[in-house]
Amino acid sequence: MIYIAPSLLAANYMRLEEEIQSVEQSGADYLHLDIMDGHFVPNLSFGYDMLAQIKKITSLPIDVHLMLSQPENYIEKFAQSGADIISVHVESSPHIHRLIQQIKQCGCLAGVVLTPGTPAHHLDTVLSEVDLVLQMTVNPGFGGQSFINETLINIQYLAEWKKQHNLNYLIEVDGGINVETAQICKAAGANVLVAGTTFFKSHDRANIVSRLKAI
Ligand code: DX5
Ligand code: ZN
Repeated sequence: MIYIAPSLLAANYMRLEEEIQSVEQSGADYLHLDIMDGHFVPNLSFGYDMLAQIKKITSLPIDVHLMLSQPENYIEKFAQSGADIISVHVESSPHIHRLIQQIKQCGCLAGVVLTPGTPAHHLDTVLSEVDLVLQMTVNPGFGGQSFINETLINIQYLAEWKKQHNLNYLIEVDGGINVETAQICKAAGANVLVAGTTFFKSHDRANIVSRLKAI
């Protein structure tokens, strides 16, 4: 089963309510929110007040991708504002295990994120604790970039580890996902596809979701 998570970063912010409705109507499974602080990544996006407002108008599970320095200071706020899944970058803290515990204590599903430059084996000691692993397939910070093929090495590793240890975490990919790259990510073992540009620039969003699900 493949799940689709459109990334609101590529939406038209002047028409946010309609954009979110179109995500619901498209048959997508999650709404992906990219939170950037201009420090961990060289860009700014939106914060938890925006999440709280979005939560009022959608029943889609909200998949929050924190690209922040000191994520421990924000996890509770995002949980209270309506996050269902919170994912933190392993590169953003020396205390990834503690962050996972913190996310779970807040009642959310816990995810960890790898940038393209981090080997997946850095996660060996926490993989039994997480609900999701998000492999960045571009460098985090911006939508509309090209897929980095070498990240497939990590996806394959995570899929193999999951099988060998009989675990259940979702393997999510994020960045440069289109019908072609989705295919190779699925073959490598990914089962959640984030799509920003591919989803929001499409004229037939339901069609793109069903094509991505059917690969
Ligand atoms: C980038 C974000 C992505 C981004 C993906 O840092 O994590 O979620 O929105 O955008 P596309 O799908 O356009 O590469
Ligand atoms: Zn993201």
